Amino acid sequence: MCGIIGMISNRDVAEHLIEGLKKLEYRGYDSAGFGVLNDRGFVVSKEVGRVAVLEPRSSEAQDAKIGIAHTRWATHGQPTQINAHPHVSQNGRFMIVHNGIIENYSVLREYLSKHDFKFKSDTDSEVIAQLIAHEYKNNTMQAVREALSRLKGTFGLLILDREDPGSLVAVRQGSPLVIGIGDEEYFAASDISALVQHTRQVVYLNDGEIAELTLSGYRVSNFADVTVVNEPTEIDWEIEEIEKGGYEHFMLKEIFEQPQSLKQTMAGRIIPDEGSVKLGGITAIEEDTLRRLNRVIISSCGTSWHAGLIGEYVIEELARLNVEVEYASEFRYRNPVMGADDLVILISQSGETADTLAALREATSRGAHVMGVCNVVGSTIAREAGMGVYTHAGPEIGVASTKAFITQVAVLVMLGMDWGRLKGHLSNDQTCDLVEQFNAVPDLVRNVCDQSDTIQAIAGEYADCRNFLYLGRGVNFPVALEGALKLKEISYIHAEGYPAAEMKHGPIALIDENMPVVVIATQDPVYEKVISNIQEIRARQGRVIAVATEGDKEIRQHSDHVIYVPEVNPIFSPIVNVVPLQLLAYHIAVLRGCDIDKPRNLAKSVTVE
Ligand code: F6R
Repeated sequence: MCGIIGMISNRDVAEHLIEGLKKLEYRGYDSAGFGVLNDRGFVVSKEVGRVAVLEPRSSEAQDAKIGIAHTRWATHGQPTQINAHPHVSQNGRFMIVHNGIIENYSVLREYLSKHDFKFKSDTDSEVIAQLIAHEYKNNTMQAVREALSRLKGTFGLLILDREDPGSLVAVRQGSPLVIGIGDEEYFAASDISALVQHTRQVVYLNDGEIAELTLSGYRVSNFADVTVVNEPTEIDWEIEEIEKGGYEHFMLKEIFEQPQSLKQTMAGRIIPDEGSVKLGGITAIEEDTLRRLNRVIISSCGTSWHAGLIGEYVIEELARLNVEVEYASEFRYRNPVMGADDLVILISQSGETADTLAALREATSRGAHVMGVCNVVGSTIAREAGMGVYTHAGPEIGVASTKAFITQVAVLVMLGMDWGRLKGHLSNDQTCDLVEQFNAVPDLVRNVCDQSDTIQAIAGEYADCRNFLYLGRGVNFPVALEGALKLKEISYIHAEGYPAAEMKHGPIALIDENMPVVVIATQDPVYEKVISNIQEIRARQGRVIAVATEGDKEIRQHSDHVIYVPEVNPIFSPIVNVVPLQLLAYHIAVLRGCDIDKPRNLAKSVTVE
């Protein structure tokens, strides 16, 4: 959700804090602020709106060598200037920025009010600054620890003490935080995208840890003040990967990057010469464990949940394993029957989604095997899962997920092929054949990207519509869900995804000449059935945009528009078929003048419940 960054350096920090915030803006963008400390004391600047509204060069902010900054996605209190971070304690001594939620803030606020603390904002976060001031006797770190012992909830927290310009305190409890080790300068940030321009050496904090950063080094300790040693890690992202690289929007860039992302996902894992799949990160699942497995449960949120639904079809088909897919937000609060014969796969681009992380912990506590499928290397889910497969899609900055989705599906397909062969459901020849076909998929995706202009022209006819229906069957039903989600999140058009045959059980009532229906009608065993569903729409004057297989001339008679995709084995078809839906949503949203990379009310990484 919110993004935070802090820095202690010999350089002026204000400008760098704001540059860092820009890289974190996809985490939240309703208001932003920074606070620095110089000879004149704290200088705070905060505004409603995007990071760009902040002015780093104001004369008051000059000569500050330490500071913290925040880009907000409101949880408690509206996006106003007063509610924006940083928050400063009433006595002016402690300044904080906070990512997360303080669940017991109202109790603390009441308590502090009784001790004559006056609050300026409606936020939960302000209590933290006040509480530290309240707990302070003569030692800041002691006051911080006392305050932490009273906070309930989740926090990634940066703290400055006006009387100690040489020290920045970072705390992690449930919200991601990473320390950057520079050349005689240190950083703390919600994620590494804010750090890559300064350093490649990072240290991930774990829950319950505090880092004290000074110009001469850093110390990590737990809440009980016992020193903890977390080894530094090298970041392998390039700066260009988090820039737009000539594209108008990150989303478009990321759609076009998909062939390359897929190749990265497959590299070293798909071995066409041997006809095999090698997934190094999951060798802990031994062959006999796999044979004993009662069930695979996939748990995730949003687009990653859609990838999980595709995984259900693919893994059942290829490996004949029983698969269930659960919303992580529901799974975590159920009382699931689960144990040592179950494998729980957590799918998460960010690896930080609060509900997915909670689902992981629930599964671990019940003795299930757990596996992560994450994009962000070193993220909390990736680290806590112990085993897993990185998608290696590269940094995804656009809030609407595209290349992360496609690579998640690719990982699930590889799991299906690997386990299918291990369990004897796929012969060596069948696996060889599938591997060869799968290896060609990135180029097929490139072929669909090349049709962006055709799709843009179709978008022009539908940009003013108020509702859309998306239909698909079998393994392409989740693709319909994903197409609808892409459209609604970036264009604000109401859209629903349905299994095509379900239409008769209700949604058909919506169909008239104003209702565009996007139908995935590629060649697969249910093609004829989907054509019947299209006829039912046409009989009610619905307008059909079909996604069909190249060479299918017949479908033209039944549709207003056809977007052709290359022929592909149906088991891999979601990877190809989702691309025109991403592009359709993108072009419609552009035509409607929407903010593509930062859609209203959304944030990239949902680190609060
Ligand atoms: C939609 C989208 C979200 C995420 C969801 C889970 O385009 O991006 O629905 O898929 O918030 O995020 P991760 O995968 O980071 O756990």
